[in-house]
Amino acid sequence: MEETLATGTRRTVTGEACAKAILFGEHAVVYHRPAIAVPIRQLKVTATVNLDPDEPGVLVATDINRRVVFSDEENQTSLARVLRLVVSMLGMEDLPWSIELTSRIPIGGGMGSSAAVATAILRALAAALGREFTPAEISEMVYRTEQLYHGSPSGIDNAVIALEKPIWFLYGTEPEILKVQRPFTLVLGHTGRHSPTREVVASVRYGWRDNPERYEVIFDEIASIVRQARHILERGQIERLGDLMDKNHNLLKSMGVSSGPLERLVQAARNAGALGAKLTGAGRGGMMIALVTQDRIEAVKNALLSARGKSVLVTTIGANVEPRSNRSARLHRRG
Ligand code: PMV
Repeated sequence: MEETLATGTRRTVTGEACAKAILFGEHAVVYHRPAIAVPIRQLKVTATVNLDPDEPGVLVATDINRRVVFSDEENQTSLARVLRLVVSMLGMEDLPWSIELTSRIPIGGGMGSSAAVATAILRALAAALGREFTPAEISEMVYRTEQLYHGSPSGIDNAVIALEKPIWFLYGTEPEILKVQRPFTLVLGHTGRHSPTREVVASVRYGWRDNPERYEVIFDEIASIVRQARHILERGQIERLGDLMDKNHNLLKSMGVSSGPLERLVQAARNAGALGAKLTGAGRGGMMIALVTQDRIEAVKNALLSARGKSVLVTTIGANVEPRSNRSARLHRRG
């Protein structure tokens, strides 16, 4: 969306970014095991840049009640630090701009809100400059902002949000776009508890330092689940995914990153007929995901709300390869 002044100069430019959910492999991914993440397109952050503002150098985020003045270096909030880094990466320190930010992604909910905020600001400022970046470049720049929040992020959030596709992620390698043979539906439930990723990642780090052998075994078991999940997604055997979600959740629980509210929601979803359920993202609070068939969507949604879930969201991850039946029909015609 873009507004044009009578003079022909662009006045406002917007940049958007979506949320994400980690399907398999959170935490172990920090220890260089693979993980699978998907974009959640319904939840978005929008940054609107004004290049002719009344008050330059100001970011306003009304829905989270924040106002950042670029020149106020005493402001060391995460948002202020991210803004300063993005503006300096683009060399826009001396240009007149203001930014309005709106976000529907819960903060500290395991949905990548920090990476999405940085991506939306970056996309909007880059568009205002008329510059284009590849998803890999955006991902790389947003990774640097993630380091401000998290210390040692794996890089999965910035990668899936930059690509907006299901990905296979392994630290130190290019993320791969995962082939999803058949669409599948997730119900996401929010515990309503804010959970700072940095703290949960740090507590796993303490556990690992205390007992590396035990944690390495858990990470290897998670890696094996992630590999099986890839195989299943690529073959469209969605019904087999639920069991792997349950197993992944139990391993996360054994690392101490689940919580009472997460257990309550995960159990409620399973009891209401979900094929499988697990926490997603850092854990302790935030969100959980449940895999559902179409006929169980309403039951699982209601069960999550009855189990004191703060909010629920239904999302379908679309197939991104041609169905096998079409392919064989075409081959047949050609043959
Ligand atoms: O809670 P989120 O959305 O920031 O996801 C964190 C995922 C972790 O694997 C726990 C950390 C990381 O850097 O990958």
